[in-house]
Amino acid sequence: MQEKPKLSLAVVPWSKEHDASQFTSDLASIKKYIQEQAHRDVSSYTSSVFVLTEPGDMVIRGYYSLSSISIVFNELPNKVRRRLPRYPETSAILLGRLGVDRDYSKNLQDSLGEKPRLGELLLANAQIRCLKNSKDVGSALLIIDAEMPTEEEQKSGALDPLRFYTKYGFLPLTANPRRLIKTMRAIAEEYKSI
Ligand SMILES: CC(C)(COP(=O)(O)OP(=O)(O)OC[C@H]1O[C@@H](n2cnc3c(N)ncnc32)[C@H](O)[C@@H]1OP(=O)(O)O)[C@@H](O)C(=O)NCCC(=O)NCCS
Repeated sequence: MQEKPKLSLAVVPWSKEHDASQFTSDLASIKKYIQEQAHRDVSSYTSSVFVLTEPGDMVIRGYYSLSSISIVFNELPNKVRRRLPRYPETSAILLGRLGVDRDYSKNLQDSLGEKPRLGELLLANAQIRCLKNSKDVGSALLIIDAEMPTEEEQKSGALDPLRFYTKYGFLPLTANPRRLIKTMRAIAEEYKSI
């Protein structure tokens, strides 16, 4: 029987040496960010960007960005508020963007014979990173802005990522359903064995 090819990937901080020139995405903004804006955000310490690569290779196969943010306490759902101290604003980390290289993921799926689940891998990596960082600089929440594909992008097959995030326990805010939150406490519970 033929052995399945092994998947070997790493998530590392973005550097100038990384190559996003061939990055593909159903969302133009996701492609544009990693090709044109990540450099500026990282060098100004506005956001940190972490990239998915094959070890020893500088080609970017996926990425996410993180930055500090705070959220008005009263905007949080009751069940989240109940377990947090009542400061006017609550500390949080924003996962601003997350994307996988569409063509790379498709090719990998063909060679592995199953979905490589790169989005899931990146989201888990981001949550673990945020949890570890929160022990140094407290952040009560992880917030995600789920970007809606444009009408044109939807016609070309782009999917709304909202359900991708809710699948992993992120809750949409009532006042702004494109913004999702998960408490660091919930992340700590989920990843307590790590
Ligand atoms: C959203 C995105 C990161 C998901 O990554 P992916 O590698 O395609 O997803 P995975 O294969 O890891 O999927 C894991 C699970 O989520 C589901 N899923 C993935 N995208 C989904 C979506 N848009 N809606 C609903 N479910 C979704 C998968 O079907 C899979 O479910 P399963 O456990 O039942 O098999 C990727 O499609 C992407 O880069 N999209 C374009 C950019 C984008 O929308 N980014 C988010 C906005 S910032």
